[in-house]
Formats: sequence, C-alpha cells, structure tokens
Amino acid sequence: MRLRGEIHFDAALSEAEIEVAGRVYGRPMPRLAYLPCGGTLRHAPPLLKRGVEHLVAVDLSRASLTVGLTRNVPEALWSKLSVHHADVRSVSEFLPGGGVRFAFLGGNSLGDITDIEGHVAFITSLAAALAPGGVLVFDYVGERYPPDGADAATEWPETYHGDDGDVPVVDRRTRQVRPVPGTAMSILRFTSEVIDAQTGNPIVEEHAYDKLIVPDSLLIQQFAEAGLELTNAGRVADLSPYHRERIRRRGDLGMLGKPDCFYRAVRI
Ligand SMILES: C[S@@+](CC[C@H](N)C(=O)[O-])C[C@H]1O[C@@H](n2cnc3c(N)ncnc32)[C@H](O)[C@@H]1O
Repeated sequence: MRLRGEIHFDAALSEAEIEVAGRVYGRPMPRLAYLPCGGTLRHAPPLLKRGVEHLVAVDLSRASLTVGLTRNVPEALWSKLSVHHADVRSVSEFLPGGGVRFAFLGGNSLGDITDIEGHVAFITSLAAALAPGGVLVFDYVGERYPPDGADAATEWPETYHGDDGDVPVVDRRTRQVRPVPGTAMSILRFTSEVIDAQTGNPIVEEHAYDKLIVPDSLLIQQFAEAGLELTNAGRVADLSPYHRERIRRRGDLGMLGKPDCFYRAVRI
C-alpha cells in the first residue's frame, strides 16, 4: 500500500523498535547479526548504527527485499548486508556454522506462518540459527488481540500517496478469531480496506490476511522443545517512550501498538 504511515518506510518506528530490541537483548550488539523475515530491511540501518558490522537478512518476498534495499538502506551500507531471497526454514548455508549471537524478528512475523507444522519448523530453524547462549528478540501480539468488542473494528485517518498527489483516506480494519481445532491456538483474520475520506470510494479494495495466535504458555513450551528459553519482556508501550507517545497521540500502530510485546529467547 502507499500510505504515509506505512510501517515499511517508517524510519522513526523502526529505530524505536531496534532501541527496544537492544535493551531486551541486554548486551552490546555483536559484530554479526541475523534478520529473519527481514522484509523491506527497515531494521537494517538502525541495527548497523548500533554496532552490528554485518547483517544477514532473509525473506521470502523478493519484491520486499528489492524495494526495501533501495528505499530503506543507503548505498553506503550495502556492503555490510548479505540479503537472501529464501525461506528462513532453510538458511543454514547463509549463516556461520556455529550460529549467531543475536537475531531480530520484527513486525510480528512469528504469526505469519499459520500452518502449525510450518510454525513449529519456523521456531526450530530460528533456534538452529543461534549459537549456544545466543539470543533471538522478537515482537508478537499473540493472545492479546481481543476477539470482539470495540477493538474488533478500527478506523483511522491516513494519507494515500496517489499518482496525482496525496489523498486523505480512511484506513478500515476488522479482525476475527477462529480456533485451530484440537489446539490452544487460533487464527486471526484481518480485513483491511482504504477508502477516500471525501467520496467514500475504495482506494485499496478490501483484502484479508491471517496471523497465528499462540498463547504465551504454549509458546514457551514450543520454544523449549526447540531448545530455547523464552521470556516475555513486556509490552512495547512500557518499553518504548516513542511507542507510548505515538499510541497516545495517533493510535495508528495497529499490531505494533498497544498489545504488542517483546520477547527474548535464549538458546540453551
Ligand atoms: C509481517 S512482515 C514483517 C517484515 C519485517 N520484519 C518488518 O518488520 O517490517 C513478515 C515478513 O516475513 C516474510 N516471511 C514469511 N514467511 C517467511 C519464511 N518462511 N521465510 C522467509 N520469510 C518469510 C514475509 O515475506 C514478510 O516480508
């Protein structure tokens, strides 16, 4: 989408997330770090700014990586990046044999693989990427989405960067939760549409995407089975003054806002 508040090109937000990630990590940034599901590489510049000297980024979307590289990463930093168009579940050849000391998985990506076996394989591969004692920091809303009530439908004013200039629009989202039979997990279905604030005409047609919701107690178990000790480090709003202020003023962060938590997983 071409919305002004689009997180993919929101440098201040990405910077604030890496600030939190650094604190949750709790150590100086290592020279080499791993960015699984790196998407538009928006976290690369702040990680490199904080002391990472080489970053290995992987994503399944070639389009995100290509657009992100040109829009989010200054050319002077390209030599510090290895960018791979690949599935994070098969990346051993891109990473050092002994594993990395720090990995960051941003944008609530943990919920992106909604197939249960795929989700478990995802966690296993994240664990395999870490050196013993290595840390994965990630953000995840998980079970904190209210299934119904006022938050089930949201709308906020936005600006759409159209071909003929900026258009005031309304960003409308709904969410619905359905259980995954026989498990404590569920699938959250979002719908999203963008309409012209003046005419009510659709600018971006309604479309849907899903996220896997795993309650913390089960997530801790799944991580333990992969050899990772998982801790919920707290809500982003409590960890980041930037998020707190933005939630208070604009409330436009969606899944990166109020219910989002940062987690720390240490390879045992
Ligand atoms: C919600 S986006 C977040 C992107 C980025 N981390 C951010 O915060 O902007 C999730 C990303 O994960 C990628 N992805 C999903 N499954 C993947 C997989 N199995 N291997 C690699 N990338 C994957 C998608 O292509 C998408 O770019």
